[in-house]
Amino acid sequence: MNAPRNEALATARNAADYVAAVVRPEVRALTAYHVADPGDLIKLDANESPFPLPEALRAKVAAAVAAVPFHRYPDGGADGVIAALRAAAGIPAALGVLLGNGSDELIEVITCALARPGAAMLVPEPTFVMYRMNALYAGMRCVGVPLAADFTLDVDAMLAAIARERPALVFLASPNNPTGNRFRTADVLRILRAAPGLVVVDEAYAAYAGESLLARVAEFPNLLVLRTVSKIGMAALRLGYAVAAPEWIAQLNKVRQPYNLNALTQAAAQVLLAERAVVDGQVAAIVAERGRLAAALARIPGVEVFPAHANFVLVRLPDAPAWFARLAAAGILVKNLHGAHPLLAQCLRITIGTPAENDALLSALETIA
Ligand SMILES: Cc1ncc(COP(=O)(O)O)c(C=O)c1O
Repeated sequence: MNAPRNEALATARNAADYVAAVVRPEVRALTAYHVADPGDLIKLDANESPFPLPEALRAKVAAAVAAVPFHRYPDGGADGVIAALRAAAGIPAALGVLLGNGSDELIEVITCALARPGAAMLVPEPTFVMYRMNALYAGMRCVGVPLAADFTLDVDAMLAAIARERPALVFLASPNNPTGNRFRTADVLRILRAAPGLVVVDEAYAAYAGESLLARVAEFPNLLVLRTVSKIGMAALRLGYAVAAPEWIAQLNKVRQPYNLNALTQAAAQVLLAERAVVDGQVAAIVAERGRLAAALARIPGVEVFPAHANFVLVRLPDAPAWFARLAAAGILVKNLHGAHPLLAQCLRITIGTPAENDALLSALETIA
């Protein structure tokens, strides 16, 4: 049978014509994910750790990377990394683990596997934008339910949406990005019990939250906990992991690319994951700075500080775009969220930096205010 004739393609003359004829309209309408160029600015915009690796540890990583057989594909199962993660994060042997090129890739894999025609994804909003983006890529319907004004889950609205939409997939980021707060465990569990499909609790910021559902995954057959090492000093590695019942992991494993975790990452991760003391020390320093920064920000006239359980703090200011620009002029890059969602009006997201970076931020803000 002949394919239906595509008039636009028949008359295409240049690349733009071909693009218009064959690229999906919803993809053409997108703007590519923008990563700001920090130049010389103090970088407080991407929720990274501000602390570099200690020199001795860098040398160990370098030796491990130098020993990688570069002419071979990586270990497709990445068994060494999985074993290191099981030990480092205390993942019970009865649960399955899937690794991703960052948790971003795992969001894509999960969405792709569950995007049956007509299936829905449910997310509270504002939240991490990649959930909705991946629904679009996979052709899955994304239903957003607004958070309450204080950024807690509107559980009744979520339960009503679950009853109405019967979502195959729910994403709950806790602590949530960009709001920074941890959702109440009781609220998450009500959603988990009511959901007819998979509930992904994205714990990218778990190290800073003091609470996690990882130890309870075995209790809930429809719970998957998503983690990443990006927020605890290893953003360059691109390593995320999903923990769920082996039945889920077996299905998701079919959707990932065969060699999704490159050999350099695997070699470095196995060294770094064995060095708990370094990570723990950096996390403790960031948590201490978060307390100091939040208290100091709250003393600046006009600044409202929201509860912060991750490695960043969300603030509301009299004029976020103007303050953002003045901070940039003072050499400091933060994330301007004004315009991203109505609940984020006049908000900036500030990643916790080193003590010196946080001091520079505070003195710039005091000058602006
Ligand atoms: C909630 C949340 N999930 C996932 C990610 C992605 O992390 P990565 O792909 O670096 O593992 C981020 C990054 O900002 C995030 O904020």
